Amino acid sequence: QSISIIRVPFGLGAGRPGSENGPDSMMKFGLVKKLEGLGYDVRADYNIRLPEGIKSPPGSKMKHIEEVLAIAALLGEAVYESVEDGHIPLVLGGDHSIAMGSLAGLNRHYSNMGVIWVDAHSDLNTELTSPSGNMHGISLAVGLGLSHIKLKQIAEGAVPLKAENCVIIGARDLDRDEKAMIRSSGMTCYTMHEIDRLGIEKVVQEALRIAGNGTDGVHLSFDIDSVDPIEAPGTGTPVRGGLSYREAHLLLELMSESGRITSADFVEVNPLLDRNNQTSKLAVEFIGSLFGSRIL
Ligand code: ARG
Ligand code: MN
Ligand code: MN
Ligand code: MN
Repeated sequence: QSISIIRVPFGLGAGRPGSENGPDSMMKFGLVKKLEGLGYDVRADYNIRLPEGIKSPPGSKMKHIEEVLAIAALLGEAVYESVEDGHIPLVLGGDHSIAMGSLAGLNRHYSNMGVIWVDAHSDLNTELTSPSGNMHGISLAVGLGLSHIKLKQIAEGAVPLKAENCVIIGARDLDRDEKAMIRSSGMTCYTMHEIDRLGIEKVVQEALRIAGNGTDGVHLSFDIDSVDPIEAPGTGTPVRGGLSYREAHLLLELMSESGRITSADFVEVNPLLDRNNQTSKLAVEFIGSLFGSRIL
């Protein structure tokens, strides 16, 4: 099996700088070695950079929209190419706006894919409802076809995801319109409340069943702010009450065991806000669990 690591050093979709340093930081803390140690053939041949001269007009409601869309188009190409070449795409962000690119590119290859979105937030705002104007808060809405920005303008032929195959895990900070969107869209959302009540094992099993039901691939989009800030302080929009260290590892181990995950994003690692690189190192550990690392 081969993994294609796609670095996306881009942070303009977030409200504060730093996540653009995420890919280099995860690489520096041994990501390639870890994956090779697990028996994968690893290539890290993509590094998605913003082309010269792309700049959003000042005063646009959604900040840096042109930059985000340019990165998404390039990332979509890279993800599509790597999956067509038979590799598992592993996208390293960057802020969570880049997931638009992953989803668009994957959607050209898979005709019917499921998505598991592990996040403190739902990223279901649109340009109409966003309280912040930050593009990382709308990426799942774009994937579902709920925004004016469509996947097909990012990657040719990409159709919206089906809400019935999309699952959010770890939500605890939802804006008013996002809550309405979750209810009306028909997607599944396991908030921290359900995780506390059912336990993470049950939640993950259900999520895999829902995202895997009749689909030909399941994409995991893992926002590091899903994890409690005590463990993962290096992120731009931390929210207390998140996944514990052990819940996050178990979630990823169960996803690995299931054999259903066909691609992944790891986003919102912000080395500028981190303490002793704790969050970057944690992300590398987590990616290891997703790809088969076990205690014994
Ligand atoms: N809901 C808030 C917003 O729309 C926060 C989004 C945070 N998203 C993230 N990917 N960290 O601005
Ligand atoms: Mn190739
Ligand atoms: Mn997010
Ligand atoms: Mn988030």
